Amino acid sequence: MITRKKLIAGNWKMNKTSADAVALVGDLVATIGRQTDVDVVVCPPFTSIETVAKALDGSTLKLGAQNMHPEASGAFTGEVSAPMLRALFATHVILGHSERRAYFAETDAFINKKVLAALKNQLKPILCVGETLAERESGATLKVVQTQLEAGLDGVSKELAPSVVIAYEPVWAIGTGKVATTEQAQEVHAFIRGLLTKLFTEPVAQKVRILYGGSMKPSNAPELLAQKDIDGGLIGGAALEARSFVDLVTAAAAVK
Ligand code: PGA
Repeated sequence: MITRKKLIAGNWKMNKTSADAVALVGDLVATIGRQTDVDVVVCPPFTSIETVAKALDGSTLKLGAQNMHPEASGAFTGEVSAPMLRALFATHVILGHSERRAYFAETDAFINKKVLAALKNQLKPILCVGETLAERESGATLKVVQTQLEAGLDGVSKELAPSVVIAYEPVWAIGTGKVATTEQAQEVHAFIRGLLTKLFTEPVAQKVRILYGGSMKPSNAPELLAQKDIDGGLIGGAALEARSFVDLVTAAAAVK
């Protein structure tokens, strides 16, 4: 049986100046900077990527970005590319977050280009999928997730698929304090695993980490992380303070 290493990723969103970022990362490195039971990724805003990279140096914690442009360089004012992120030692990039889809009109096709560009540059994409409240209430959850997943992963090879991380984030649970029940989350995670099996074969699907995101915190994490197909968390609010983020990593390490 394959045991997937748990992954806890902190999505700081548009929070923290670089001074704040260094202070937070300093606390994280001091407490969990040497642990190897769980993969831990922090995703600060672009403005603190470089200082955070320096602060993480020599620790086991990894660096991720919250977005990127699919092109390597060129006339794309305000954008940042995969080679730029790699040059600062980022290893992961969050793509297709529901806030990017909703507020910046990102389409599945555009997100797919980013996924392919990230993989081409040895960045591991954390591809976010998830339904809105209206979609859940109308019974469209699995259909929405399937469309986002299949379109987002179009053209990804079986060989590179294990480098992809999927984050299931029900939009109605993000930043709302309303967490999906363990049954609701596990149902969608198992469905995603099934889709990955169809796309890439069973052994490959067993290697892909599927994170849950949406109001995950130390109090609800143990039950979610104990589910068969929940391999970690993409954490927003609770990643902004060292204490709660460290507790989440500890909770993930405790799941056997
Ligand atoms: P939240 O955000 O933990 O604050 O709900 C999760 C996310 O949007 O990635």
